[in-house]
Amino acid sequence: MPRHVAIIMDGNGRWALQKGHLRSLGHAHGVDAVRAVTEAAAEVGVEYLTLYAFSTENWRRPQEEINALMELLVHTIKSETDTLMKNGIKLEAIGNLEQLPESCNNQLMETVHATRNNNRMTLILALSYSGRWDIIEATRKIAREVKSGNLNPEDIDEDVLNNALNTARYPNPELLIRTSGEQRISNFLLWEIAYAEMHFTPVLWPDFTKDDFYTALLDYQNRERRFGLTGAQIPSIS
Ligand code: IPE
Ligand code: IPE
Ligand code: MG
Repeated sequence: MPRHVAIIMDGNGRWALQKGHLRSLGHAHGVDAVRAVTEAAAEVGVEYLTLYAFSTENWRRPQEEINALMELLVHTIKSETDTLMKNGIKLEAIGNLEQLPESCNNQLMETVHATRNNNRMTLILALSYSGRWDIIEATRKIAREVKSGNLNPEDIDEDVLNNALNTARYPNPELLIRTSGEQRISNFLLWEIAYAEMHFTPVLWPDFTKDDFYTALLDYQNRERRFGLTGAQIPSIS
């Protein structure tokens, strides 16, 4: 079982348009899939589930859609807090959260605080997040450490960079899922997915079910993760 699964929840807009609705309705239905997958992940013992909910680039969408998404976010986080508590799920967030509308950030912080002692699974929302943004922020932090004389440039290694990222306290995801048939990363966890297994499915996010999640897990379990070694070396290390 992967400890950490990351998902690019894509296809809400197309789901709605195919049905003759506004794109925002697709986002609203996407919440059902979030609920189902969060439950499934906790049930099978995944420890960390990271969901890409809003990217740095998504700020360039029509303002109307952004507003609808932000409202949906506040509303959903508020209404799901009880369920998170009941299911022992801790909510956390990564991204440039200061860019979110104040009401959104406040609700987020409230639920993050309320669920902080839950320990069955950690649900991480990537909001106003992009992999390059995080790497740049981390680089700034490291540069400041060097400038202040607390860090020697020669001592900068993977751990130093890891620890400077928003994702510092999580293990790297072993499995990355993207729905909607697109086969790209769209600036998600660039550093962290160095050795993640990719699972792409044509299913649009609002249609994604627990069974689709299990299918992705089975796909992952049938991969041979070699980390640069030869196939023959693998049994000896596992
Ligand atoms: C994913 O669905 C949700 C967000 C990016 C917020 P989209 O809104 O990207 O849906 P498509 O890709 O246009 O169908
Ligand atoms: C990626 O989806 C971001 C999220 C799922 C939040 P997009 O729909 O924004 O990605 P592109 O534009 O198709 O690459
Ligand atoms: Mg999309």
